[in-house]
Amino acid sequence: MLDTIESLAKEEKSFTASNTFKRKANSQTQSLYSSAKTDRLSFWDNQAQNLEWFSPYTSILEWNRPFAKWFSGGTLNASVNCLDIHLKTKAQKKAIIWEGENGDIKELSYQEVFEEVNKLADILKNKFNVKKGDRVTLYMPMIPELLYALLACSRIGAIHSVVFGGFSAQSLKDRILDSQSKMVITANGGSRRGKVLNLKNIVDEALSKNDTPVENVLIVNHLPEDTCPTQKKEYDQSYNELRKSAANYVEPEHMESEDILFILYTSGTTGKPKGIVHTTGGYLTHAKYSTKTVFDLKDDDIYWCTADIGWITGHTYMVYGPMANGATVVMYEGAPDYPEKNRFWEIIEKHNVSILYTAPTAIRAFMKWGLTHIEKHNLSSLRLLGSVGEPINPEAWEWYYNHIGSKQCPIVDTWWQTETGGIMISNIPSLNDMKPGFAGLPLPGIEAKILDKDGGEVSKGGGLLSLTEPWPSMLRGIWGDNKRYKEVYWDKFNTYFAGDGAIKDKDDYIKVLGRVDDVLNVAGHRIGTMEVESALVEFEGVAEAAVVGMPDEIKGQAIVSFVILEENFKQDDDLENKLKQFVSKQIGAIAKPKQIIFTPDLPKTRSGKIMRRILKNIAANEDTGGTSTLANPAIVKSIKEQFNKLS
Ligand code: WT7
Repeated sequence: MLDTIESLAKEEKSFTASNTFKRKANSQTQSLYSSAKTDRLSFWDNQAQNLEWFSPYTSILEWNRPFAKWFSGGTLNASVNCLDIHLKTKAQKKAIIWEGENGDIKELSYQEVFEEVNKLADILKNKFNVKKGDRVTLYMPMIPELLYALLACSRIGAIHSVVFGGFSAQSLKDRILDSQSKMVITANGGSRRGKVLNLKNIVDEALSKNDTPVENVLIVNHLPEDTCPTQKKEYDQSYNELRKSAANYVEPEHMESEDILFILYTSGTTGKPKGIVHTTGGYLTHAKYSTKTVFDLKDDDIYWCTADIGWITGHTYMVYGPMANGATVVMYEGAPDYPEKNRFWEIIEKHNVSILYTAPTAIRAFMKWGLTHIEKHNLSSLRLLGSVGEPINPEAWEWYYNHIGSKQCPIVDTWWQTETGGIMISNIPSLNDMKPGFAGLPLPGIEAKILDKDGGEVSKGGGLLSLTEPWPSMLRGIWGDNKRYKEVYWDKFNTYFAGDGAIKDKDDYIKVLGRVDDVLNVAGHRIGTMEVESALVEFEGVAEAAVVGMPDEIKGQAIVSFVILEENFKQDDDLENKLKQFVSKQIGAIAKPKQIIFTPDLPKTRSGKIMRRILKNIAANEDTGGTSTLANPAIVKSIKEQFNKLS
């Protein structure tokens, strides 16, 4: 790792935001940093005061490691903080500018979104008896009704669990069962690259064995029924019908600050995905503060976060953060290359987007697609760019800066996780310079350190990233599994272990290098190697499987699987494809391996443990180092040869 640090120091470049940007920026002085340093808790107290509370909290933080309670005693409601509070001053302001993949546009004011959310809240509460604390699974395309559903759940105190629409029936079912949801909200279908994704059919498949607690499935008829045929089931309920007679107002539930707002599943190194639990007051405090601070959000901005609401980025920076600030958000249903590869730039030009928040994998795809798609559009409405999901390589950073921002827009490279709830490390461009490849400094109120494996601080150089003080939007646990919560995040160090490797430079800027565990990051999506391995071994004829990541030009990482077949299993020509399809069916297309290598054996220690490090080295085209401790050193050479033939 030391080599990397030294070579980085030589390459470091820095960029300063323009004077125009700085002059108008929300943060003009170092006061956020200095007040947070002087008294962190009173800093967070001040941020929490920007929310509307029904009753005030009596303590800021109760910390009983690893369990935090923020703003105890206070009661509030998230939907009130995202909608009701804006009605006096900006009822007619656009809340959502939605664009369907087919080009349909819907513009919805805060007043309209307020009414729709209340109607849906009324349906959930009064038609289906969804009560405070009940779980509701949302499996929907990127349509306004998804956003309504989050806020409607929060209005009545129901816990939402959004499952990304790209996940399979099995993954959906696992999440429904784990959360014990009694209700699912879906749509008949969504559009993706001109094709219909029939979500309702996938829900039917997930519920087909009748072994989940789901009583009702509320279906939004988003696509015309003839393009999206569905079978009628006894649990079906029509949103479009019920909406007609739904009430326009539902009294918001008074939620305790620590009542759960949502669960969101994410992959870990072992076992099934974990339901990350977020609560109300602390989460919303950080969502509101960080959106305003990092994106320099102002009242006249048109803000576009391109993430799907199925991921944490969509929860915090498409729904709760921007809406708590009363922003106008752009929401796009489809793919960036449909019908043409200029779709994003067309959207930006058409709606005058001023803030764009997207992922390195998308940026690298745009680079590859070339400038012609960009040059025909006027992108001068943009004033700030953001990046999230994985490390952004300096080359992609500079391309983004030069070609999308025309050297006028600062870039915020934001490091955070599903678990952190909101952005932890990012520069505030009016206050600090940007360095491509570096997320930069922890936000005011956040403390981060780089630790060695024994937990000692590495002051300059590389190590493991840890957040060293509790923060309001931190996860409160893993749904139903506090033991695992402790093990995964708190057993390694005294402080929160993020699972990422990172380095700090002479200016204390942090560069996050990526996961140090067996979690892959494919196109900004987290996938546990073990999940893919479990799926592979379920396939008939597969005896053993090992999965690692390999560097991928666009997606950051791609999945490589090494598979041992059962001895007498007859391998047909199409097995590789069948296996890929099988994984896709089991987990979702995002988990589909790029390469599958069939091998009679895997590198193992004498005690039989698979040596993943060696497989990782092979997949990354790196030296495999010493193999003499292996039980079967010869296999390394043979796997290497096979792999090299493929790539
Ligand atoms: C993991 C978290 C947070 C929203 C999207 C992903 C990686 C995320 C960055 C960044 C370097 C990053 C880390 C982290 N990551 N942002 N700016 N620079 N790495 O959320 O699915 O919970 O994944 O994504 O490895 O641990 P997630």
